[in-house]
Amino acid sequence: MKKTITTLFAAMSVLVATAQPAEQLSASDPAMPWDPIYSMKLDVNKPLFPIQNTMYGIFFEDINFGADGGLYAELIKNRSFEFEEPFMGWAPFGNVTIQTKNPAFPKNPHYARLTYNGQITGTGLDNEGFKGIGVKAGEKYDLTFYARTVTNGPVRLRVNLVDSHNDLFERAVVEVNGKNWTKYSVTLTPRKTEEKARLRITMETQGTIDLEHISMFPQNTFMNRPNGMRADLAQALKDLKPGVFRFPGGCIVEGTTHETRYQWKNTVGPVENRPVNINRWNYTFAHKKFPDYYQSYGLGFFEYFQLAEDIGAEPLPVLNCGLSCQFENEEHSHEHTAVKDLKPFIEDALDLIEFANGPVTSKWGKVRADMGHPEPFNLRLLAIGNEQWGPLYPERLEKFIEAIRARYPEIEIIGSSGPGSEGEDFEYLWPEMKRLKVDHVDEHYYRSPEWFLEGATRYDSYDRNGPKVFAGEYACHPRNRENSFYAALCEAAFMTGFERNADVVHITTYAPLFAHVEAWQWRPDLIWFDNLNVMKTPNYYVQQMYGQNAGTDVVALTMEGAPLTGRLDLYATAALDKETHELIVKVANTGIRQRRVNVELEGVPASKRTAKVTRLQHTDLEAKNTMCRPDQVVPVEFEIPVEDGMLRAILPPLSFGVYRIPLK
Ligand code: AHR
Repeated sequence: MKKTITTLFAAMSVLVATAQPAEQLSASDPAMPWDPIYSMKLDVNKPLFPIQNTMYGIFFEDINFGADGGLYAELIKNRSFEFEEPFMGWAPFGNVTIQTKNPAFPKNPHYARLTYNGQITGTGLDNEGFKGIGVKAGEKYDLTFYARTVTNGPVRLRVNLVDSHNDLFERAVVEVNGKNWTKYSVTLTPRKTEEKARLRITMETQGTIDLEHISMFPQNTFMNRPNGMRADLAQALKDLKPGVFRFPGGCIVEGTTHETRYQWKNTVGPVENRPVNINRWNYTFAHKKFPDYYQSYGLGFFEYFQLAEDIGAEPLPVLNCGLSCQFENEEHSHEHTAVKDLKPFIEDALDLIEFANGPVTSKWGKVRADMGHPEPFNLRLLAIGNEQWGPLYPERLEKFIEAIRARYPEIEIIGSSGPGSEGEDFEYLWPEMKRLKVDHVDEHYYRSPEWFLEGATRYDSYDRNGPKVFAGEYACHPRNRENSFYAALCEAAFMTGFERNADVVHITTYAPLFAHVEAWQWRPDLIWFDNLNVMKTPNYYVQQMYGQNAGTDVVALTMEGAPLTGRLDLYATAALDKETHELIVKVANTGIRQRRVNVELEGVPASKRTAKVTRLQHTDLEAKNTMCRPDQVVPVEFEIPVEDGMLRAILPPLSFGVYRIPLK
């Protein structure tokens, strides 16, 4: 009870802060028939402008163990012994060393050498996975590794899964025979579910062997792709119905140093030979260090493009522009590449376009085809730079633009407006982006609930003739930085401004996407997970309600001639879906009063029809979903009648609703 009162006070303060006229504040108790009925209008026959397919999308960055240990279904950490401490993630016992001579994979030269120590299973290696290895009873897991014998004769290895009590619960035997590197595989079918298993490989017989690239995947990956994605996490992405997929970052694109920047060419070709790179989120926050955070690049650019295709989203890669992270490097740092030395960076951009779209006879088109995708990936959007600022950026971007426009004029180029939603860098970069004639400008904002509510009108005054807006990273950050219902509601309200301004805003992607509950560096995040389960946040459901109800064309929705951008604490927008022949009305009520509205649907026949309603609602602003209770804030679906060309809607306090009304 105490909590409810607290949250009501919080909501009241929001209500007061938005300064409503007094007579409307005094509206009577919710659900009473004498509540005032407010009129709204829309005209189906007058669509204003199209909504881009890319309007609601996703942004993936390998942060919070989002890739290795997350979306990428590999279960073994440091599978190729390439972390700075080669045994990190492994617990060797008996006689085990690291070697580099005559490696199987020159770009990942380290491997483990095991010598029998006179005791059956006395020599071996345990892998701890990513905060444990999650396995499910009855599911099949493919363990593969490369091995060669050093001594004469075969060597038998035991492969076990070990549970959190150190009990073995799955066992297989593999015989390694031959002095050349050979790939071995065995399928494990654990008979019990375990969130924190370990993999153990031990020697059963005498001899010395070398082991490399020890990998374990569930057979059940998303769409059963080899080297694929965790099925539940990728499905959660598909269920958002994203129109666009931005990858691979974020700050990891920039890298802290020139050396550690993201280089896409290192992420394609056979996975065994993709060189490992430290992840910058390994050390970025002093209070949240993760020394075991590396990028295996098993989830690389081919996999990103393929995933985009699998979930029906348009790919949007981001490339390094020659600048290392500007938060961490001064203007004159040697980690920034001089303009005169940008050639390899620009070639990377041109080669990426060839990799994505080029014929199989081209150098990079062939790499794509050899990886299993001869058809082009139809790349159209390309971002150069992430969060850049100052003159260092435009002078570099300009060189990329010249080269890309000359060879690939059809590619739409995205430039950055810096790390903030306004201020000096932002004010400097927007005109620069216009001068350089980029197609889209990437804006990033992680701001307060109040900012988000006020921001519903942000794009009303944007230049209609300049580059289009790409809201490439945004999230409402309440003071406690948690994924609360209220943050999600503020995002829902704010996003009405995206839709109303769909002539200017062409692409939007919430950030970040994923977080492992035991290994996160940044929050809030859209989707949380542990080794076995996924938890969707209220923010996820808001994104999903927009993604699944995007519509094709905006129509004006007004109250007394003005759009709803906070009046009565209401935020609203409407769209047509010309494909399904429906009208879609979205309304967020951020206040504590229920509102009754009659929406006159000009152009919708008077005959009776049924609207489908999806509603996200809670009485507690702090409400959130957790791994144990993932269903505290979830949308509900129901139907209401629509008669006489009028949508009669009751908008509960603290709610976001989507109404789909058939036009025929
Ligand atoms: O989304 C987390 C980080 O926020 C991104 O890596 C970066 O672009 C921004 O600063």
